[in-house]
Amino acid sequence: MENEKRDILKTKVMGHRGAALLAPENTLASIRAAAEAGATWVEIDVYLIAEGGLVIFHDDTLDRCTNGSGVTREARPTDVAALDAGAWFSDAFVGEKVPTLLEALECIQSLGLGLNLEIKHDSADVENIVPAVMAMLRDYWQDNDKLMISSFNLAALDMCYEIDEQRHLAPLYEDIPEDWQAQLESIEAYSLNCDYSRLTEAQARAVKAAGYKLLCYTANDPKKVTAHWEWGMDAIITDDPTQFAALLTK
Ligand code: G3P
Ligand code: MG
Repeated sequence: MENEKRDILKTKVMGHRGAALLAPENTLASIRAAAEAGATWVEIDVYLIAEGGLVIFHDDTLDRCTNGSGVTREARPTDVAALDAGAWFSDAFVGEKVPTLLEALECIQSLGLGLNLEIKHDSADVENIVPAVMAMLRDYWQDNDKLMISSFNLAALDMCYEIDEQRHLAPLYEDIPEDWQAQLESIEAYSLNCDYSRLTEAQARAVKAAGYKLLCYTANDPKKVTAHWEWGMDAIITDDPTQFAALLTK
């Protein structure tokens, strides 16, 4: 196909928040667990906190995944660094920290993994988080073909594209909008990343026919995505890469 994207993933399995069922999500332990399970790519969430801090975290509040509480966006880096992000998951992970973006980039590269970095933010914060994330990637990430940047917020990806057209960008959708193709074209996207449970066969085949890679989140039971492979899904984003061991290429 004329416009088909190159295969930078070289895998069908990507760990979600590291490997969120095997270790506390979005921690360095979770990233290592994904690698140990045989995943060669991980998805993690980058979140803007107070004082311009960038940490790996999913929620708008600290309560679920740390021993702290309150609004994540308002937390100061020194306070977040002091939190325990592992005890909630199990005793084996007591002392695990909320990683900074830099710590995660170093960990992921030291393990030789690919990174799907999902940018989380309030719409009002696009200009506060995107240039900062892109600068960190410019300065600390080596191999552009081992990096995908994804977001539910197209404005964030527009800004990524303005800053560096060479990055592999991936709009995220719960429900795929009518104008998805125009959205992907406007940023020369690499892939469309969507919720496997809402994807239809027609949508999947249209994405593939347009030449884009198709990634789906978050399936932990291989039986739930049997059809999706037939529709052309390129990779599954999963909390437990061991469930897809037959598809892993070490
Ligand atoms: O990148 C796929 C997935 O991570 C998107 O949803 O809420 O788990 O970040 P969420
Ligand atoms: Mg995510």
